[in-house]
Amino acid sequence: MNRSEFLKLCAILGIGSTIPKSILANDLFNDLRSSDFGNDFVWGTATASYQIEGAWNVDGKGESIWDRFAHQPRNIKTKENGDVACDFYNRYNEDIELMRDMHIKHSRFSISWPRLLPEGTGKINQKGIDFYDRVIDKYLKENITPWATLYHWDLPQKLQDKGGWENRDILGWFEEYVSLCAHKFGDRVKNWMVFNEPGTFVPLGYLIKIHAPGKFGFNHFLPALHHVSLAHGVGGRVLKNVVKDGNIGTTFSCSHVDPYKNNERFIQSAKRMDAFTNRMYIEPILGLGYPTAEIPKLKKMEKYFKPDDEKNLPFDFDFIGLQNYSRIVSKPLQIVPGLHAMNVKAKKLGHDITEMGWEVYPEGMYKIIKQIAAYKNIKKIYITENGVAFKDSFVNGNINDTKRIQFLKDYLKQILRAKKEGVDIGGYFVWSFMDNFEWAEGYHPRFGLVHVDFKTQQRIIKDSGKWFSEFLQK
Ligand code: FCB
Repeated sequence: MNRSEFLKLCAILGIGSTIPKSILANDLFNDLRSSDFGNDFVWGTATASYQIEGAWNVDGKGESIWDRFAHQPRNIKTKENGDVACDFYNRYNEDIELMRDMHIKHSRFSISWPRLLPEGTGKINQKGIDFYDRVIDKYLKENITPWATLYHWDLPQKLQDKGGWENRDILGWFEEYVSLCAHKFGDRVKNWMVFNEPGTFVPLGYLIKIHAPGKFGFNHFLPALHHVSLAHGVGGRVLKNVVKDGNIGTTFSCSHVDPYKNNERFIQSAKRMDAFTNRMYIEPILGLGYPTAEIPKLKKMEKYFKPDDEKNLPFDFDFIGLQNYSRIVSKPLQIVPGLHAMNVKAKKLGHDITEMGWEVYPEGMYKIIKQIAAYKNIKKIYITENGVAFKDSFVNGNINDTKRIQFLKDYLKQILRAKKEGVDIGGYFVWSFMDNFEWAEGYHPRFGLVHVDFKTQQRIIKDSGKWFSEFLQK
């Protein structure tokens, strides 16, 4: 339906006046072009070290918590692991050339801490440095701008053996690691993200043991959260000092939260859910503290506070990376410790569901962008992850993933809507460039624009990859 057909239909239905002018003005119903987002808008794809590199114990790399976790029975649904993954360690040249051929001009990737510092601190693994030097140089040679994430969850196991993020000494270990990356790669990499989604790896890894390192309970969660919060400033300050002309950010997983029913109990549950999912991670970094009013359990955090922490928690990032896939619909549930709420299963909500069991809800992207943009000290937002896993089917050697194309278009329209309303959004990265190891799920949910045959390591560009490539040229 084009815009005028839509307006006609509204007139017939008598609903024209209820549609916000901004939506109509934004012309959401025409087909999208990348140029609609402006000439300086950054378009890219994203990956992460453990999910693609493989070579888990090669050339001096130390063990990470994900190596350990995935090697233990029962942690990964499919009993798979990231030992080989996409074998990017050996195939980065061809993969980066494929990116180039697809007209992708920006690539978000992460650096594996134990590849550089096998014990987490101390001895440097030169072969690890050489690997990232080669990767970065290849990106630059192919005119692709590298965007590096320092921590996408693969903590050195040796540091976990000393308590990992629960041990306050990690602030010093992290500083050493960030400083090494900044000094070695900061001459060529200008765009940096300190963390990938604390709102995922801290609760899943330290509260409900679904992710590495598989810890359970608030006694693990609270110190881990506080040290991760503090480490934002630690990393940010090092990068600011060392990287000349750096663009320094960090990323948060954010989801708009709606109450399942429109009554006070459900509305309050949604407030707690929002505090737990979104505010708890971003607000300390913005100088607003932890949302203790909604989550009183956070008051116990005081135990882990040192005198200067309040001063050191905030950091003035150049940008915030917002990562969104779905929304959360909340209901009250007393038995859930600390939160007393639960998300309603996506299948009850009447929308399409992804292979991850997540609801397809494009408008949630718009709403969460507006929510995050309303914080007054955020300078710029990049959408550093968005994408989807549907069941991909082969037809005559092609992967006709039309649902993924539709998903990306629908979400992009909502990003454009927020941008046209004045939110300073600088770019968008699809998760993911290629199918990869999806953490506790294994290789089954496929998020890539490029299909990977994990037996042969053959890559095939999906229809969504072809669409994205054409879209980037328009
Ligand atoms: C995000 C992670 C990313 C990937 C996508 C599907 O939470 O940052 O590594 O797993 O979800």
